[in-house]
Amino acid sequence: MDRPNAKTDRRKLFVKSYGCQMNVYDATRMADVLAPEGYDETSDIADADLIVLNTCHIRERASEKVFSELGKIRELKVGRAASGLETTIAVAGCVAQAEGKEILRRQKAVDLVIGPQSYHRLPEMLRLAKSGPVVETDFPVEDKFDHLVSPAREKIAARGVAAFLTIQEGCDKFCTFCVVPYTRGAEISRPVAMIVAEAEHLVASGVRELTLLGQNVNAFHGIDEDGGACTLPDLVARLSHIPGLLRIRYTTSHPNDMSDDLIAAHETQPVLMPFLHLPVQSGSDRILHAMNRKHRARDYIELVARIRAARPDIALSSDFIVGFPGETEDDFQMTLDLIAEVGFASTFFFKYSTRPGTPGAEMADQVPEDVKSERLARLQKLTDAQRHAYNAAAVGKVMPVLFEKTGRHPGQITGKTPYLQTVQVEGPASLIGSEALVEITGTSTNSLFGQLAGQVS
Ligand code: SAH
Ligand code: SF4
Ligand code: F3S
Repeated sequence: MDRPNAKTDRRKLFVKSYGCQMNVYDATRMADVLAPEGYDETSDIADADLIVLNTCHIRERASEKVFSELGKIRELKVGRAASGLETTIAVAGCVAQAEGKEILRRQKAVDLVIGPQSYHRLPEMLRLAKSGPVVETDFPVEDKFDHLVSPAREKIAARGVAAFLTIQEGCDKFCTFCVVPYTRGAEISRPVAMIVAEAEHLVASGVRELTLLGQNVNAFHGIDEDGGACTLPDLVARLSHIPGLLRIRYTTSHPNDMSDDLIAAHETQPVLMPFLHLPVQSGSDRILHAMNRKHRARDYIELVARIRAARPDIALSSDFIVGFPGETEDDFQMTLDLIAEVGFASTFFFKYSTRPGTPGAEMADQVPEDVKSERLARLQKLTDAQRHAYNAAAVGKVMPVLFEKTGRHPGQITGKTPYLQTVQVEGPASLIGSEALVEITGTSTNSLFGQLAGQVS
């Protein structure tokens, strides 16, 4: 076996992730599975013996970026070969799953294409790739999480105070614009015991905030130790007992899976942060129907009212797509009306991008690019104003901030409010990893400024 000796034959690994938080989490797990194989992470791509591009297929631009990046990496590989250094190039993530061997056809320097459900097989696939390019895009019957290696404590500490934890993979919703059900496969919840063990390990290593991840995370239904069903609020209750865990967040939620119990947890569980990313995509019932979102705009507005009744200070955020096929000016106006009515703390918006293989790609009445751009600009203006108003309203308030790292300037530290706003404060680095009260004194485009105002009781 040509496995390198872990002590004498270390190699360098560079992973670059695109797309959603699930890819960020997967990148850490890939590094963990490769560590016992002799790989240490580097932040310098030119120094890497193994380069992994962890890709995203959600929009055309995201997916095409991969091929331009691969072109540059090929040159790097050629340059290193001239100095007698071998470089292995792996493409992972959702483009790998969607395009498979087409990637090898478009870029011959690639050695390995591996889909998101197969990362536990990376070591084996890398060995196979030594004798020629390998494509691994099956949805394996075994669960990748059963086989992934858990990271060393120092590694977790180096990754920071706030960590992602994937609790659910895949999606069964089949929104007509979206590739995720095809690239990530069926929706599967991880068993509770495994999640709790991973959370305990993270917290014991210094993590203070966990964001539970899934494409449809509020539909979580893992099995517990007794074989019973565990919902997301049940899981939050379990995790809340871990000593040292200060904050729990979860993302992304579908409006139709926002159960009464989960809403109630926002009132009764202090560990659950008052921030909710609840994408609505559009304010037009006709478009929502065509998107297969299975609810009306009014249902969303009523849901928001119920959530706010339970937790009045909750900050809401949403994704929006502009220019979905058939979207008229009236439909778009309904989206603007919904935004004005709900009031979001933050928003993410995207021009509709035709994705091969999705029903949306076959629909008539595709919206011209210039119309999409013009609508996007109007949406941006409205949501920028809402975000600024939301942040400005924080000035003068005192709130607990969890400090995550040193700030941009010497003597500064940076943390997050419960509402996921970034705050810069003058303060000692010893506060990193703990919460302190901060009085908010000002705002800039992307963050708040504040001063320390005492201990959290
Ligand atoms: N599971 C999440 C979303 C995952 S994708 C949910 O249901 O909310 C993240 C966001 O990308 C989506 O919310 C949507 O706004 C956007 N998106 C997905 N497919 C897209 C496409 N084809 N064109 C433009 N934006 C898209
Ligand atoms: Fe895509 Fe819809 Fe699933 Fe979200 S819920 S991942 S938008 S199919
Ligand atoms: Fe992109 Fe895949 Fe996430 S397509 S958004 S990386 S699930």
